[in-house]
Amino acid sequence: MPTPHIYSNTAADPASARTLPAAAYHDDTVFQNEMTHVLKAQWLPVARLSEIARPGDYRTTSIAGEVLIVSRDADDAVHVLSGLCRHRAMPVAGGSGNAKSFTCPYHLWRYGLDGKFLSAPAMQNSKVFDPAQCNLPEIRFETWNGWVFANLSGTAPPLTPQLGPLAQRLDRLAVSPADLVTIGHLEFPSPWNWKVMVENFLESYHHIGTHKDSLQQTNPGLGTYAADLDGPFALLENPAKPGAGDAFIAACVFPLAMFFFSEGALPTGGWYEFRNLEKDRFTLRIHLFLPPELATDAGLVELVTENLRTIHMEDIPFCEGVQKGLQSSNYTPGPLSHLEACNWHFHRYLQSRFDQAGV
Ligand code: FES
Ligand SMILES: [Fe+2]
Repeated sequence: MPTPHIYSNTAADPASARTLPAAAYHDDTVFQNEMTHVLKAQWLPVARLSEIARPGDYRTTSIAGEVLIVSRDADDAVHVLSGLCRHRAMPVAGGSGNAKSFTCPYHLWRYGLDGKFLSAPAMQNSKVFDPAQCNLPEIRFETWNGWVFANLSGTAPPLTPQLGPLAQRLDRLAVSPADLVTIGHLEFPSPWNWKVMVENFLESYHHIGTHKDSLQQTNPGLGTYAADLDGPFALLENPAKPGAGDAFIAACVFPLAMFFFSEGALPTGGWYEFRNLEKDRFTLRIHLFLPPELATDAGLVELVTENLRTIHMEDIPFCEGVQKGLQSSNYTPGPLSHLEACNWHFHRYLQSRFDQAGV
């Protein structure tokens, strides 16, 4: 049965836009609809290709209720697999590494890097055991700018053709995102709804408050602007104060592939990966990128990492405060600034997904 339209107050123009109703952040039905019609139905980032550069490399993740393995087989082919054992649903691998095959730790069923079932002990008496039915299911994927994106439903329109203007913007960076290397990651338990995180990422209005001693000094919030409000992505330009630092772009391939790249003397980048996403929490893993020739400079790696940690630690109390505030019956949707146009665009995107699904 259709639920009341949670995004029904989404305005047709940004000047009339308001925030979402509080229920969008804590209603169970809304979250289930998001899982089915947004997260599982659309493209989600599940790995960087650099993490699975060599045959045998794999990494695991958990998103939208699924456990996934992203692997590169001996023939150099990439696979995205359901990571759950075909016996009793135990994850067959965890973390990341390099392997010749995956052996489920529970009863030692074994699978190839391409998900093909290889062997299982003591199954010879079973009348219903059919090895041909025991491969790990393959999940549809595309690669784009160094990421592996997966579509769990298998029904989303191809991703790359939808991202033309964003790809063109990335092409203008001094170093192509696909050529940057990962220098490490930071991880944060994040007890707030995933949209609170996306909305925080897609506006730099909050530099004037949250980051008044850091980003506001280099990239003043009032000078930021949304560069594109058409495709299934947001692109936020953050010009630098002259002589004070580097400009950067923050972007999100909807619904939740969030990343930034800076321009200028020190081309850094980062990917905010959502893991173990539930209605009111997720684990945030922030991957940091540098050009290969700078990635071996331990002092620089430390500096970039600690800068990013400082920025995110500044964001945490605000995400927590908003999540708590959204539980109150006294909160009604507030008006958005023009500096929050990407959030208006994000809300319209969610509305269009719900409209299409008829929920
Ligand atoms: S659950 Fe994997 S072998 Fe039994
Ligand atoms: Fe922030």
